[in-house]
Amino acid sequence: MNQPDELGNPDQYGVVGHPVAHSWSPFIHGMFAKATAQNLVYRLFDVTPDDFRRDTLKLFASGVRGLNVTLPHKQAAAELVNELTARATRAQAVNTIAFFEDTTLLGDNTDGVGLTSDLERNLQVDLADKRLLILGAGGAVRGVLGPLLEREVREVVIANRTPVKAQQIAAEFADMGTVSGCAFSELRGPAYDLIINGTSASLQGEMPLLPAGIVGDTTVCYDMAYGRGQTPFTLWAKSLHAARATKGWGMLVEQAAESFLLWRGIRPNTQPALEVLAQNS
Ligand code: ATR
Repeated sequence: MNQPDELGNPDQYGVVGHPVAHSWSPFIHGMFAKATAQNLVYRLFDVTPDDFRRDTLKLFASGVRGLNVTLPHKQAAAELVNELTARATRAQAVNTIAFFEDTTLLGDNTDGVGLTSDLERNLQVDLADKRLLILGAGGAVRGVLGPLLEREVREVVIANRTPVKAQQIAAEFADMGTVSGCAFSELRGPAYDLIINGTSASLQGEMPLLPAGIVGDTTVCYDMAYGRGQTPFTLWAKSLHAARATKGWGMLVEQAAESFLLWRGIRPNTQPALEVLAQNS
């Protein structure tokens, strides 16, 4: 998949989402392409849920070789592709699609490995035997649960605005460890070791109302969302004196590197992109 066409035109990649204008993926993949001398372009495609299936298939028919998929399409993407990798099957959510010459659309999920790489490698968080709280029960959370549970964590609680969705995901992953689902209002202390925000609430500038006692001075708070300045979640974590309040820039860069590996057969060094984004955030 990593040969440019006969005319030397760049291979086309991009990200589909709604909204998607905030995405830093073109910048990150641009850095990766330059560093690894790959001839490609990476664009943003704003596609509504109603148009997702038709427009995504059109993009591949027009020659696009790979797409990242972001909110709210990750679950719809799992239904669109012809084949799923093992981790995407587990998640029933796809954040990366690769188009092969034999017209196979392969769906993968690199969110989980992106998050665990950032937590363990970049932030030096040891997950073994820890109590984790995950906020949200959408496509992003589906992607990260498997890799987190593989770390022999003690317990994962999933809390969601629509509690039945949290309970449903918990049931799907129950064979991998101790997982339960509940409403935000049902959360109780003692403080968790790690709280991950996987809701898209901060895109609307919101933060779900959470009970006191779930954050302590050793709790690491991680927002899978990212943006300039503080997010409502990192502000909340800081107001409760969490040990750390981190945004998901590292996850974004690491999951992008795994997508790049699937598409181009090379895993770029993530350090330069991590450094640039840290300066800009
Ligand atoms: P993603 O791919 O980012 O997971 P998604 O599948 O649309 O996107 O899921 C969005 C998640 O954010 C869901 O858990 C959603 O809660 P519901 O299941 O109740 O819809 C959550 N979410 C979105 N806006 C929210 C808000 N304002 N407060 C709390 N949770 C919110």
